Amino acid sequence: MELRLHVLVLLALSYIVGPCNCTGLCSPASYEFRLSKDGAFHFPVFHRKHPCLDPSPAVHAASVSDAGTVIGDDEIHRGKYLMAISLGTPAVFSLVTIDTGSTLSWVNCERCQISCHDQAVKAGPRFDPHISATYRQVGCSNADCVDIHVDNGLGLLTPYGCNDETDTCIYSVRYGSQYSAGKLGRDRLALGDNFTVVDDFIFGCSEDDRFYGLEAGVIGFGNKSYSFFNQMARQTSYSAFAYCFPSDHQAEGFLVVGPYPQRLELVTPLMRGYGRRWYVYSLLLLGMAVDGKRLEVDPTVDTRQIMVVDSGTEDTFVSPLVFYALSEAVTSAMGGKGYYREYGSEKVCFRPFQGSEPAVTWRDFPTVEMQFLRATLKLPPENVFHQQSADRICLAFQPDASGVRDVRILGNKALRSFRVVYDLEKMNFGFQPRAC
Ligand SMILES: *[C@@H]1O[C@H](CO)[C@@H](O)[C@H](O)[C@H]1NC(C)=O
Ligand SMILES: *[C@@H]1O[C@H](CO)[C@@H](O)[C@H](O)[C@H]1NC(C)=O
Repeated sequence: MELRLHVLVLLALSYIVGPCNCTGLCSPASYEFRLSKDGAFHFPVFHRKHPCLDPSPAVHAASVSDAGTVIGDDEIHRGKYLMAISLGTPAVFSLVTIDTGSTLSWVNCERCQISCHDQAVKAGPRFDPHISATYRQVGCSNADCVDIHVDNGLGLLTPYGCNDETDTCIYSVRYGSQYSAGKLGRDRLALGDNFTVVDDFIFGCSEDDRFYGLEAGVIGFGNKSYSFFNQMARQTSYSAFAYCFPSDHQAEGFLVVGPYPQRLELVTPLMRGYGRRWYVYSLLLLGMAVDGKRLEVDPTVDTRQIMVVDSGTEDTFVSPLVFYALSEAVTSAMGGKGYYREYGSEKVCFRPFQGSEPAVTWRDFPTVEMQFLRATLKLPPENVFHQQSADRICLAFQPDASGVRDVRILGNKALRSFRVVYDLEKMNFGFQPRAC
């Protein structure tokens, strides 16, 4: 049967993660991927040994090969953060993008039907379901299959969502102009060195996609029963996850699913969903400040905005009025540092005035504050600007019209080096600066 996939528009936003400023909290022991005695799954990001995830000793210490770590790698996908998983028997290693803005996880599979993206060698080989002894297809009447169809707009198009001859559930997910489509399957998911986490993990075996990275696929943290997070959460005692994406790719970062050390000073309410996207996690931005000075925005306009916290999007997208005020304030602050605004480019970028020292001195750049309900985050300049080249610096903020119109997104750049906690029991976000 021809595999015909009717891909409807589902905006799948992307991703985020966080850890710890653990002075006085850490023992020098190595904390690798493990299930700690408090029942949390810990995944070190990048470096295998993180000295300070929390003070409790490892119970099921698993020695980590490459699985279980999380990395940023611009050669694989710039602006994304990746974690390692192993699927199937024998286990196949895959590096996948961490995405809090989408739900279904998927990997590039062998037996590509239409067109499939290339994978970097270091992202692992394509998963071949025919080789895995533990792989099973998911049938069309399976509840997760039905949910995935409804959630992705395939509900009324069942002929396209099922291969009747083999009773195989067909899925498709869309991320803006990218998509993945294929067969829904279950297999053994391992994190760490053969440390089984989910025996019958549901994921998409992708046989047709348009995808701009070289990773194996995407791991979804959105709130759906079939997302990676919810499948993991069933095995932990507390419904939460936290991550820290390192600003610097040499630095350490991590991802934790389950209970976390509760000492957090910066806490803001977590809101369920964004518009019709019930599965994402949002918060309320009250205002912003540059170098301690609150942005001047037309006082007759309510500029408070709900934002999706998306680990898979790099830049932050704010409303046009706030963006305009921010770019004006930053341009003025940068002028005082010897940088002029380069007009004509789509993004807001700066170059040093002739004769001034072009070396980037992040220390001198303006700081930006984001005032969320009950928590103000002071973003270090590395979280506010991209260094495009030795003499060109661009703002990592954009108006929402440059992304998805009317969707405000708190991207991963703004939150790097913060531990970002998603506490789905208390319905809070927690932030801890300089955590990785
Ligand atoms: C991993 O664990 C499974 C289940 O315990 C076992 O069947 C398999 O042989 C192990 N694989 C390796 C590579 O150790
Ligand atoms: C997650 O989804 C469940 C089921 O739809 C819902 O009851 C719960 O409030 C959601 N939680 C969050 C944090 O969105």
